Amino acid sequence: MAPYDNRDSKPHDPYYEPLSPEVIADPHPFYRRLREAHPVYWHGMLDSWVVTGHAAGRQVLTDTTRYASDFRRAGIDVPNTALSLQRLDPPDHTRIRHLLVTALHELPLRTTAEHLRAVMTARLTALAGTGPADLVTGFARPVALETICGYLGVRPPDGVDFELQSNAIVRSMDAGLDPSRAEAGIRARAALSSLVAGWLADDDRSGFVAAARRAQQAQPEITEDLLANSLRAILHAGYESSSRLLGAALLRLARQPALLDLLATPEGADDLADEIVRLDGSVQADGRVCVADGELGGRRIRRGQVVIVLLAAANRDPAVFPSPDEVNPRPRRGRHLGLGRGAHACLGAALVRQQLQTLFGCLRHDGFTITSTDRPRWEDTATLRGLTSLPAEVSARRTATAAGPHPIRG
Ligand code: HEM
Repeated sequence: MAPYDNRDSKPHDPYYEPLSPEVIADPHPFYRRLREAHPVYWHGMLDSWVVTGHAAGRQVLTDTTRYASDFRRAGIDVPNTALSLQRLDPPDHTRIRHLLVTALHELPLRTTAEHLRAVMTARLTALAGTGPADLVTGFARPVALETICGYLGVRPPDGVDFELQSNAIVRSMDAGLDPSRAEAGIRARAALSSLVAGWLADDDRSGFVAAARRAQQAQPEITEDLLANSLRAILHAGYESSSRLLGAALLRLARQPALLDLLATPEGADDLADEIVRLDGSVQADGRVCVADGELGGRRIRRGQVVIVLLAAANRDPAVFPSPDEVNPRPRRGRHLGLGRGAHACLGAALVRQQLQTLFGCLRHDGFTITSTDRPRWEDTATLRGLTSLPAEVSARRTATAAGPHPIRG
C-alpha cells in the first residue's frame, strides 16, 4: 500500500490533487468527477494510472499475473525493510500468507470479542460525563492499539516513539506527492521491524506472535526478516487502518444515530459494518505495477507503469452500488473493495468487522451516546485517510457493565 511512492511528480492536475486542502476535507466529489470523466486516468502529477471505476479496480487487484505488488518484477528497487507479505506476489506471497492464516486460525475469535468489548466499554465509561473530549486520542487510537496488541499477544508499546514511527509510515505512503516524507518512513519501518523481531525472539509469548513463530519453525524457507516485516505490517494495519476506520465510523454514527436502528434485524450488524467499510474505509488507495502490456478500461497500460486503484472511489461507483453515497439498508455485501480483493485481501477483515460490531453494540445496547461538539479534523494524508481529532461528548444512559447482555455477535 504505497501507491504515491513515485518521486517524479509534477505540480498540477485538473481532477485530483490528493494533498490539496479541499481533497483532504472531502475527497469524494473529486473521486466522483474523475470516475465520471475517466474511470482509468493517466495522472501526470503522479506519473501513474489512477483507477476510480469498480470493474477496472477489481480487475487490477485480482490479476497478480499482470499487476504486481512486488515492484521488483518490473525492475523497481524495494528497500529490504519494505519487503513484507504486502509487497510479494504468488508463489512467495502464498507461502507467508498461508503461514499467517494458519497462525490466525489457532486463536479463538471469541476471546478477541470479549477483550474488545472490555476495552471499548472501559474507554467509553472513562469518557462518559466528562464534557467534550477528543474521540480519536481518547477512544479510536487506544482501542485499536490495545486490540491489535491483545491479538498479537504483546504489551502495547508505549511512549511517543511508537506513535511517531507509526505515523511516519503512514505519511511515507504519500512520499511521491511529498518526497520529504520518504526517509522517515524507511527508518520507522526498520525500527518497528526490530521491535517485532524482539517479540519473536521471546520464547514466553502466547497469541499470534507465538503462533506465527511456531509455524515459521516448520517452514525455514520463510526468513526471520520476512516474518518480522509481515508482523510489523499487521501491527501497523491493526493500529492505523483500524483506528482511522473506527474514528470515521464514530463520526458517521454521531451524525446519523438512526443507522443503529438497522441492528434490529438479524443481518443488520453485518450489513451496517459492510456499508461503513464501503463508505468510510480508511485505505483510500492501493498500488500495483504493470508487468505485461495490456488493456484496462479501454486504455493501454504498459509494463513498468504504476497503477493506483482508488478503492474509496470504486466503492461509490453507481454502476455497482445504488445511491452510492448513502448507507444502503440492504447492501450487496462483500462487493466493495474497502478491504481489498484477491490474493492480498485484508488479513484482518474478521477483526475489522468484529470491532465495528462491538462498537455498534456499545452504542445501541450498552447505553452510550456520542454527540459531536465541534468540527472534526482530517490528517493531510492521501493513501490512508484518518481524523486527527473528533471533538465529542460521550454520555451513558445507564451504567454499562462488561457482563451485561450484548446481543451483537462479536
Ligand atoms: C485489525 C486490523 C487489520 C489488520 C490486522 C490488517 C491486516 C492486513 C494485512 C496483513 C494485509 C496484507 C494481506 C496480504 O498482502 O496478503 C491487509 C491488506 C489490506 N487491508 Fe487490512 N488489516 C486491518 C485493518 C484494515 C482496515 C480497517 C482496512 C480498511 C477499512 C483494511 C484494508 C486493507 C486493504 C484494502 C488491504 C489490501 C492491500 C493490498 O491489496 O495490497 N485493513 N490487511
